[in-house]
Amino acid sequence: MRMYDLIEKKKRGGALNKEELAYLVGGITDGSIPDYQLSAFTMAVCFRGMEKEETAALTMEMAESGDRVDLSIFGEKTVDKHSTGGVGDKTTLIVAPIVASLGGIVAKMSGRGLGHTGGTVDKLESIPGYRVECSPEDFFSIVEKCSLAVVGQSGNLAPADKKLYALRDVTATVDSIPLIASSIMSKKLAAGARSIVLDVKCGSGAFMKSQEEACTLAEEMVEIGRANGRNMAALITDMDRPLGSAIGNALEVEEAISVLQGNGPSDLRKVACALAEEMLSLCNGWALEEARAQVKKSLDEGLAYEKFKEWIAAQGGDLEAFLAARAAKEWQQEEILAPEGGMIIKMDAQGIGIAAMQLGAGRATKEDPLDYQAGITLLKKSGDRVEAGEPVARMYACDKRRFSAAKERFLQAITVKEEPFTQKPLILKRIGGRD
Ligand code: URA
Repeated sequence: MRMYDLIEKKKRGGALNKEELAYLVGGITDGSIPDYQLSAFTMAVCFRGMEKEETAALTMEMAESGDRVDLSIFGEKTVDKHSTGGVGDKTTLIVAPIVASLGGIVAKMSGRGLGHTGGTVDKLESIPGYRVECSPEDFFSIVEKCSLAVVGQSGNLAPADKKLYALRDVTATVDSIPLIASSIMSKKLAAGARSIVLDVKCGSGAFMKSQEEACTLAEEMVEIGRANGRNMAALITDMDRPLGSAIGNALEVEEAISVLQGNGPSDLRKVACALAEEMLSLCNGWALEEARAQVKKSLDEGLAYEKFKEWIAAQGGDLEAFLAARAAKEWQQEEILAPEGGMIIKMDAQGIGIAAMQLGAGRATKEDPLDYQAGITLLKKSGDRVEAGEPVARMYACDKRRFSAAKERFLQAITVKEEPFTQKPLILKRIGGRD
């Protein structure tokens, strides 16, 4: 078999068969297919797409290209959650302890942020001492002890996807539904949970800009998971504006804690609860109504927050030190004022994510260091009225020289006008799940 022929076939709109996909993924994994041929192939996929069975077969090949985590010793209640990436999305920090406090087993691998989107692992590392790298033995023993562990993705989980994704990232070939679906699902299948809930973000701050694209992606991933014996559900959620008010690592941990303590912004609480309900419905076999009542109880009675504290301590995190550092406020801050009065009709999530990255909360390249305290708190959100000169947001960074560029980017991301505003629903659609 020759890679040249596979590229030619895809260029003409053909579908690769199982043997061809096995050859492709084998060649990615052992490095025998050069980057220029892989890039030509991924570009051909962007233009020609993939058939459903082809995407499913590519997913399986990539899932089997490295280690597979066997969570069967924890029984049937293992449950994972994946977000396609957003701004201010700290739902894992809330959802994981809620679910673990109600009988679910969350043995989770999470990623780092890149560009305008944040990553759970970076957020957790803003807690002094928290270990995102664990040996498999430690990972299993933490899950055994508190039904919950969140670690960085192991180096050899779906290595073919790792290589392909890095290449797609620099060749403008990320935004292809079959490539995204196979990339995400190969890692989720290899990570071993019996039930998987997907949060497919849709809007200006997400890969999927339209609801139609987001639904197609979600449907494909749900089908792939089900074909592999997993219980699947997906929610399409709004990412036209950031979720919650905090964007930046330590700021987001603080906001997640506030939701776990029964406070926090209502949009964040709503999305987090909806995801937790889907997870519990799948792993515990509960009807959604029952799951809703239990999630509320866990938050109201402080069970989820107790589980959060237990989990963070089990992974070496020092929550007292984190809270003391937040209270010490050893950073610079500056308010961003509304340039004119009116209704905020737009708060572009991507632009705000980039502004937070410019403050040091995110990375433009993989090597960039993070300032864990850096970020933005939104004092107003779309749909709020502002007077000219009124603060709309507060920026934080250890280095105040970062403020001016971030402020400029933030102001480009918001639109203030005397126009009526209608907020899109936060949860746009539900796909799959228990009926
Ligand atoms: N996240 C992934 O893991 N893969 C993609 O292709 C896109 C987002």
